[in-house]
Amino acid sequence: MCGIVGYIGSNNVKKALLEGLKELEYRGYDSAGLAVMQEGRIDVFKAVGKLNNLVDKTAAFDPKGFAVGIAHTRWATHGKPTEINAHPHRGDHSFVVHNGIIENYKSLKDSLIEKGVRFISQTDTEVIVHLYESFLAQTKEAFRAFELTIGAIEGAYAILLIDETVGKTIFFAKKGSPLQIGEGTSWRYFASSDAPLIGVCESAIYLDDGSWGYMNDRDIKIFVGNATVSPQKKPLPLTRSAAQKEGFRFFMEKEIYEQSRAVGETLTSRALANVVRLDELQEGFLDGVESLRLCACGTSYHAALSSSYLFERLAKIETRCEIASEFRYRDPILRKNELFIVISQSGETADTLEALKMAKRSGSKTLAICNVDNSSISREADAALLTRAGVEKGVASTKAFSTQVTVLWLLALYIAQNSGALNAEDLAREINAMRRVPSVLAIKPERHEHIRRLSKRYLHGHGFFFIGRDLFYPLALEGALKLKEISYLHAEGYPAGEMKHGPIALADPELFTIALISKNLLKDKMQSNVEELIARDSTLLAISSERLALADDLIEIDEQDHPLLEFFEMTTVIQLLALEIAIRLGTDVDMPRNLAKSVTVE
Ligand code: F6R
Repeated sequence: MCGIVGYIGSNNVKKALLEGLKELEYRGYDSAGLAVMQEGRIDVFKAVGKLNNLVDKTAAFDPKGFAVGIAHTRWATHGKPTEINAHPHRGDHSFVVHNGIIENYKSLKDSLIEKGVRFISQTDTEVIVHLYESFLAQTKEAFRAFELTIGAIEGAYAILLIDETVGKTIFFAKKGSPLQIGEGTSWRYFASSDAPLIGVCESAIYLDDGSWGYMNDRDIKIFVGNATVSPQKKPLPLTRSAAQKEGFRFFMEKEIYEQSRAVGETLTSRALANVVRLDELQEGFLDGVESLRLCACGTSYHAALSSSYLFERLAKIETRCEIASEFRYRDPILRKNELFIVISQSGETADTLEALKMAKRSGSKTLAICNVDNSSISREADAALLTRAGVEKGVASTKAFSTQVTVLWLLALYIAQNSGALNAEDLAREINAMRRVPSVLAIKPERHEHIRRLSKRYLHGHGFFFIGRDLFYPLALEGALKLKEISYLHAEGYPAGEMKHGPIALADPELFTIALISKNLLKDKMQSNVEELIARDSTLLAISSERLALADDLIEIDEQDHPLLEFFEMTTVIQLLALEIAIRLGTDVDMPRNLAKSVTVE
């Protein structure tokens, strides 16, 4: 959600900023902007819409030699996505870019307006630059003015600020939003994720919350409070394996196809012939754990919910699931001996991160299941299990979901293995099934073509209900989320057995029901629920390994002997169905409207 890049050096500053933003664009794409400072003069460019518009706007701008630059790609929180609201925001002589939300901006803005300051945008960000300039007018000392500014603002932020009257310096601050520093041979970067740094910097410094300071052409000074911090550098990969679509129409499509390989990676050296190994968990990490609390947002929450069936069924351990944004504000009671597990693709989701901090404060042991090493969530938790999905570019999560469910299944088996909840034979059977997931996830061209052809019948109607039972209920939720976020059609996921308690009132030929029918779990119950809908003339698309006499359409999956193998195969089906419907409707599949890849505001 929003992306930040900063640069100090003598290479092509414009290229550095725009290429950095390109790596971050999928995180927010309603406007973008950059400011370049050379010899005490700052040039600023902003454009509404995708980054290409900023590229066009800066086509004739050709800065040469040493320069300082800051840039931003925005996902609007305060104020519409207009050019005026795009970052960088300006004062009289300084410019700022910011990710996050300044929660007390209204009172700060009111008091600045009283002092005669004129605001031009509707953003919370603009207050930072005016506050800084008003402190500077009092203190006559830029560093002190920046320190006072950081002291006055509340909320979550990653901030870069440059000032014509200071030159050659970027002031920075980080609290609750990601920010890291990259160092190359003769240049330095700031970025809100690793992506812009890879291939251009050898090492990165991951700033802790509460860090602030400055960077100039000679020095980096980092403080937490008043204390100077010696930065810990971590090496970065040398090459940017720039995500390419590799012949696919969209990143999302490529990532659906990548799931087989990604889950193979997830399982490597973890699912051995008769035993599960999780080397990341220190010996004794699970000692004393009596129950689990899983907490996440969106698709990651659906992975959590899916796994809650596995933890209870396989590991016989009590498990509760929480939506992070709800958990944070309902005064939850955290039990002693409960392991608090957060699940996040990006590792930066604000609500999940805050829930994790709450759990830590209350003394819980914490575990992150995350796709991004060195992300805030991976670093904050007591231990982390990486999902190894690789970079996910499509805003709609696909391979992150399948790898998360795989790690959670691994964890359920690991707990069962340690506690003896599964005997050796059942454990071996589970592991054997798990090792077949990569082949089940491989997309068959004829299956994809069938879904593509079928999708044309599902472009209208007054809504979609994805229904399932047991494990297939969270998958139904995920199917509905995938469809609505990229096609903008209304879709709901529902437990099939609940339809008769209300939603069945909607049933008619224009209500499209997508039924996830497992052969291995509650098949007869599910069929009865489906027949109740057919009896009310709802249009029914069955996803199943068996024909269903009265279904309007069928997407046939292979016959599997384990429910999770059906689960993973159906996962690809619901993803492809959403993709093909969205493509027919002509939406921007990889960057759907109003969304961003990483939700770093609450
Ligand atoms: C949906 C989607 C989102 C994310 C959610 C959590 O396709 O991608 O619902 O799952 O924003 O994000 P992470 O997993 O990064 O914490």
